[in-house]
Amino acid sequence: MNYLYSNLMNKVRMATGHYKNSVPYLSTEPYLNNILIQSICDAVGFYRQYWGFNFFEILAELASAQTQMVDSLIVHSLKFKHQGQYEAACMVLAYADTLGCHTQYSRLLSADLLRKLRKFTEARKLCDELRRDFPDFDDVESCRAMCDVDELLNCPYDYYYLLHCAHMIVKPARYIEIGVALGKSLALTRAGTFAIGIDPSAANCDGLFFHSPEVEPLLFAMTSDCFFDALDVHSLLGYQSFDMAFIDGDHTFEQALKDFIQLERLAGPSSVVFIHDCLPVNPVVAEKQRKTMFWCGDVWKVLPCLKKIRPDLNIITFPATPAGLAMVTGLNPASRVLEQQFDTIVSSFSDIQLPESYSERCLLLNVADKDAVELLEEHLAPLVCMNQGCLAGSHEYP
Ligand SMILES: C[S@@+](CC[C@H](N)C(=O)[O-])C[C@H]1O[C@@H](n2cnc3c(N)ncnc32)[C@H](O)[C@@H]1O
Repeated sequence: MNYLYSNLMNKVRMATGHYKNSVPYLSTEPYLNNILIQSICDAVGFYRQYWGFNFFEILAELASAQTQMVDSLIVHSLKFKHQGQYEAACMVLAYADTLGCHTQYSRLLSADLLRKLRKFTEARKLCDELRRDFPDFDDVESCRAMCDVDELLNCPYDYYYLLHCAHMIVKPARYIEIGVALGKSLALTRAGTFAIGIDPSAANCDGLFFHSPEVEPLLFAMTSDCFFDALDVHSLLGYQSFDMAFIDGDHTFEQALKDFIQLERLAGPSSVVFIHDCLPVNPVVAEKQRKTMFWCGDVWKVLPCLKKIRPDLNIITFPATPAGLAMVTGLNPASRVLEQQFDTIVSSFSDIQLPESYSERCLLLNVADKDAVELLEEHLAPLVCMNQGCLAGSHEYP
């Protein structure tokens, strides 16, 4: 396993130019071993979807290295899953069942695949059985929540895909990301982008699990507040505005609003800010305090707040899975109203509740009812023109 992990990492590094130390995360505990397998398969799927790399042969090695039959079948199933062949992935696990070898993880994976096939009743039934058999198995709750998400949002895109499309359209020269985690969203950056990542947990590029093959980001291992307080960000950006930013750090309303205020000071008329987690699947996951494993926080309150205090901004929320992605344009770096009224704004929006009714939620959060990729093109291409003084071309997305 050590060898296989390094092998994947080396291939990824060769493709991405990251040859430095790896940070292996291995476990002899069966469930953690399955999570490691899942992470490797996710990475293989990511590099194939966004970068066209075929690392799938690693999965054959990964399967044959497993000492348990069920783990080997899990790898095969995940491989099918990442190739979009959900029926085949389910069949592999059904075969494991006929051999009488299944685990907590293989059953969870079956539920997840049923969800992917939009067989929500069956997926939820399996989740309920798992919860009965393993009452402390938190990941089941996330799988169940994802059934609700897929059914409610009914959107073919996740937020990574929409960010990827935005990168392809905007081709940002300067990109700022608040909240990097494993580096997956940051790994969507393309050649020609100067990328800044801010996250107290992201110390250096070698510690990230995902890497853009074309961009070595500049990472700041600190909170966004520290970053904006301690650094001369204008100078870091070469005294130019950023083109695109993504807020996905601390999931509270106050912090997300602060992050927006700080970013807007560095924006130009053609800059765009994306905010994650702006369309929670239900009011419980939308609370400030975390009560559930699947949680969005109350970041969504930024949208009604901006609509009221800054009607000059353009706000669209895409129902991207798993928790919506908001896009804000029409930024004005000279505006100080949010900053000046910050405390009053925070106290007046802190107590608002997410509407139970999805249609009311959509109205409150400006949820788009048109294809998200078309809308991105429609709204971002004119900004590119404004910025470059040229006609926008058409874009193709892998
Ligand atoms: C949801 S994860 C980010 C996921 C990542 N953007 C992606 O999509 O692949 C949130 C991250 O925000 C970081 N974070 C929390 N508070 C923060 C803050 N005040 N400033 C910057 N990052 C913060 C956490 O350490 C965590 O890694």
